[in-house]
Amino acid sequence: MAEALTVSIGELPLKNPVIAAPGEHLIEDGGLAAAIASGAGAVVMKSTNESDAAKRQLRQAEYAALGPDWRPVAWDPKAVDATILTRSGLHPLGFEAWLDQAARHDRLARASDCLLMPSLVLADLGAAVASARRIEQAGLRVLELNIGTPYASQAARGAVSTELDPGRVSEIVGAVTAAVSIPVWVKLSGQSERVTALAAAATAAGAATVVIAGRALGLVPDLDTMTPHLGTSCGVGGFWNLPLTCHWLAETRAALGPEQPLIGINGATSGEDVARMMLAGATAVGLSSAVMMRGFGVLSDAVAALQAYCDTRALPAAGLIGRAADARRRFSDLPVLDNVWRHHIPRAAGAAH
Ligand SMILES: Cc1cc2nc3c(=O)[nH]c(=O)nc-3n(C[C@H](O)[C@H](O)[C@H](O)COP(=O)(O)O)c2cc1C
Repeated sequence: MAEALTVSIGELPLKNPVIAAPGEHLIEDGGLAAAIASGAGAVVMKSTNESDAAKRQLRQAEYAALGPDWRPVAWDPKAVDATILTRSGLHPLGFEAWLDQAARHDRLARASDCLLMPSLVLADLGAAVASARRIEQAGLRVLELNIGTPYASQAARGAVSTELDPGRVSEIVGAVTAAVSIPVWVKLSGQSERVTALAAAATAAGAATVVIAGRALGLVPDLDTMTPHLGTSCGVGGFWNLPLTCHWLAETRAALGPEQPLIGINGATSGEDVARMMLAGATAVGLSSAVMMRGFGVLSDAVAALQAYCDTRALPAAGLIGRAADARRRFSDLPVLDNVWRHHIPRAAGAAH
């Protein structure tokens, strides 16, 4: 029952909630075509902006997969539980060529009932507004605006943005949503204790939805060289981000209400994780690094696993949204137990076992 996976972000239906989120595997035509063919409900292109420094950053980009001992492991499909460290840049094509790629793949996506999403990373606001207008004029159906890359403090000045002030989020999102009539999805930084306030500002300023939330910066010292892996602070991600994403989804749902669609991102690696983020409040969920590392089968497997989970529960995918979030209770409302803490300490400290 494929239709049981359908969800809606405002007026836009998605055939399923699995989103191919941007990364280097969605730079070239082959990757975009493979993501569309995987059966994902939406595919977000590798982002662009007007900054030459952001493009140059892609030529300087490096990637590392680290095991649980923080030592490098092979970047391959077996590295399922790796921590991923990256210094990425933006799409290498100029804007006109990128827009042409978007228009061509939008046609391909429409034929597969998939939503192709062009993505802008904010550098200069005036330039972002102008690009958003061109994207709408090219017939694209939606725009993702990323204002929360992890890199702004480390990248060349003005190349990308990490917006952490709700007032500034209002100004940016208001300017872009006033300029176009297509829905604007706003990807927010997770590097903040105010993700919910950023989400509230973005939706009040006209965002159709918010993508919660971008990766954080991290630094991993290499014991052999005594320098940072990849030379500096990097974008850091991995499966372990899922609880943080789910927390922000639940908080944001509580603040903005169940009618406001939210997109989950950061830490999903499977269809079960898509279900987890939906239970925490997401209407749809992006997967990026798992696909970049393990291939496009991750997306088709995720759709199949989500379908299987929904079938087992006899629920449509939309029926999952927010169930765990709405079941959250305050610590003080949970029952008093029989010193359970004694089962979680060493014997010498007085353990009960
Ligand atoms: C190598 C790499 C490149 C990325 N490029 C982009 C990009 O161009 N635009 C964007 O919005 N997000 C980009 N992201 C962020 C991902 O879309 C996603 O938000 C992040 O990796 C967390 O999700 P994940 O745990 O599924 O990887 C990139 C991530 C990685 C690892």
